[in-house]
Amino acid sequence: MAYKIAIIVGSLREGSINRKVARSICSLRNDNLDCSMIEIGDLPLYNQDLDSNPPEQWVRFREQVGAADGVLFCSPEYNRGIPGVLKNAIDVGSRPYGQSVFDKKPAAIVTASPGSIGGFGANHQIRQAAVFLNMPIMQQPEAYLGHVNDDSFDADGKIKEGPLKGLIEGLAHAFHDWVDMISRSRQLLAEDSAHASQAAARATEHA
Ligand SMILES: Cc1cc2nc3c(=O)[nH]c(=O)nc-3n(C[C@H](O)[C@H](O)[C@H](O)COP(=O)(O)O)c2cc1C
Repeated sequence: MAYKIAIIVGSLREGSINRKVARSICSLRNDNLDCSMIEIGDLPLYNQDLDSNPPEQWVRFREQVGAADGVLFCSPEYNRGIPGVLKNAIDVGSRPYGQSVFDKKPAAIVTASPGSIGGFGANHQIRQAAVFLNMPIMQQPEAYLGHVNDDSFDADGKIKEGPLKGLIEGLAHAFHDWVDMISRSRQLLAEDSAHASQAAARATEHA
């Protein structure tokens, strides 16, 4: 069974290396990961006053993420932190209070940069938000992809042979297994809970 994955890219740039990395992760597991790129560039800035009558772009974004089994964040680092456009999308999806579309969704966080530290700062800021949002986040492999640039990809945007491709293959497999484990565990817990309710009902009948 293919899991539905919402890909959220923290770059609006047409030639974004992070978008190419996200596509590579999905194409390597396209039999098991049914990925959709969720656009965030059109989302009006989050404003709590609009919660009672949200803009259509917020509604569309919330529906798309809400329908997914898991979320893959792929983002550049801007000034050692999360690009504003991505933080805005996270804020939009997290509200109204108590109705976050991110709640309990398994996620992985990947940051890619031409620089040597691979967006470590942005990666951990996204992770910090995801902890608060109650998302089970893949712990390993950590994905700070450094020295990634246009030369890392061929003319079709596909990742070239080499160590980066090996890293991305490892990530793709680990992410599939992570989403699978969380989804199956949740299913088993739901079944246990249903059995427990049925047993309690039977015990009450025979009391
Ligand atoms: C406003 C801005 C701030 C940046 N700050 C960082 C940074 O803190 N760390 C880093 O590694 N690269 C930084 N960069 C360089 C980006 O990593 C690089 O432009 C990268 O290609 C952007 O990702 P993208 O190709 O997915 O758009 C910055 C770029 C911009 C435009």
